[in-house]
Amino acid sequence: MHFMTLARQADDPILAMGAAFSADVRDRKLDLGIGVYRDECGQTPVMRAVKEAERRLLIGQPTKSYLGVEGDRAFLAGLEPLALGDARADHAVTAIQTVGGTGALRLAADLLAREKPDRTVWFGAPSWTNHGALFAAAGLAVRSFRYLDPRSQDMDEAAFGEAVEAARERDVFVLHGCCHNPTGVDASAAQWRSIGRALARRNLLPLVDSAYHGLGQGLEADRAGLRILLEEVPSALVAYSCSKNFAIYRERVGALFVVGGRQGVELAASNLTALARATYSMPPDHGAAVVRTILHSEELSAIWRAELDAMRKRVRGLRGLLAQEGRIGLIDLGRLATQNGFFSSLAIAPADIARLRDDHGVYVVPSGRINIAGLREDQVGAFAAALRAVLA
Ligand code: LMR
Repeated sequence: MHFMTLARQADDPILAMGAAFSADVRDRKLDLGIGVYRDECGQTPVMRAVKEAERRLLIGQPTKSYLGVEGDRAFLAGLEPLALGDARADHAVTAIQTVGGTGALRLAADLLAREKPDRTVWFGAPSWTNHGALFAAAGLAVRSFRYLDPRSQDMDEAAFGEAVEAARERDVFVLHGCCHNPTGVDASAAQWRSIGRALARRNLLPLVDSAYHGLGQGLEADRAGLRILLEEVPSALVAYSCSKNFAIYRERVGALFVVGGRQGVELAASNLTALARATYSMPPDHGAAVVRTILHSEELSAIWRAELDAMRKRVRGLRGLLAQEGRIGLIDLGRLATQNGFFSSLAIAPADIARLRDDHGVYVVPSGRINIAGLREDQVGAFAAALRAVLA
């Protein structure tokens, strides 16, 4: 008998919630779970720029031969200025195409484990539910500190400072580039500056997870924190996802950027290539080809930027509508207006999350995270009413 010594694993809370939602036969149900954008019809449409890029690819694709381990170089060349902006100016940079943003994080984790297996990866909790599992799967120790100060509902700078002091040299700090998942609370410019200074002073390495670029305050504003950070630290890793901002979730395309001194970056590039080769050999083509086609066409880029902006504004509009609902029980929805991206974390007890689901068909991730981008405007009232019925 094989496999009998394996321990059964807990379901991923976000994915398990999606399955429960699909199995729910009620008409009036609300999915505020997985981080996927929906439009006012409740659909996750293919963007126009993507459709047109795909049409061009279908007609013009000359071959389906292998891409190479590092992926589509023209995709990477187009993505680098988008992802890093002028933040890369004073550094050497290498990039590798990855299987989504998660693939970028995992490849980064494998690189970090290879370079220094006894290092610890730190992140502010709560964080994306997969962060801990992902670094642990690469064999790295994982530790967390409190991300949000419950009183101010702002980043808990003291907890970050304590973690920085407790960390050992060359430990890694995971930071959210923008649109913090799950709280929606991003660091201010001043906070990014002091984060960068603290990490540099203790010789700690930032790993920036950039999964929602352009969906907070806009493409340029959303990478402002990264720019400040890179003014302070000598090296950083940036895991970039194209899933949300190009709405090509299932195509699984992203990239990992290593930013730093030339020699270290070259060594990182050689090791990333070897790790990718030993993991999946070469990445899939299609998603990267779509992004490449868009980014190398002025016409398609303009269409894409306008579509992305419309998505961002819709989410901002929903935040405004929810904020108007004000205080419900102990929860102040007013805060949603100043947060960024798809998510917010509501302090809802597990029993109340179960009541929202069972009595009202409202599905919220067990941590209390809601995906605002999953709502239609005409559902805001029903959501607020369900919250009021359960909490007020
Ligand atoms: C999320 O946080 O909902 C997304 O990043 C999707 C996922 O894979 O969890």
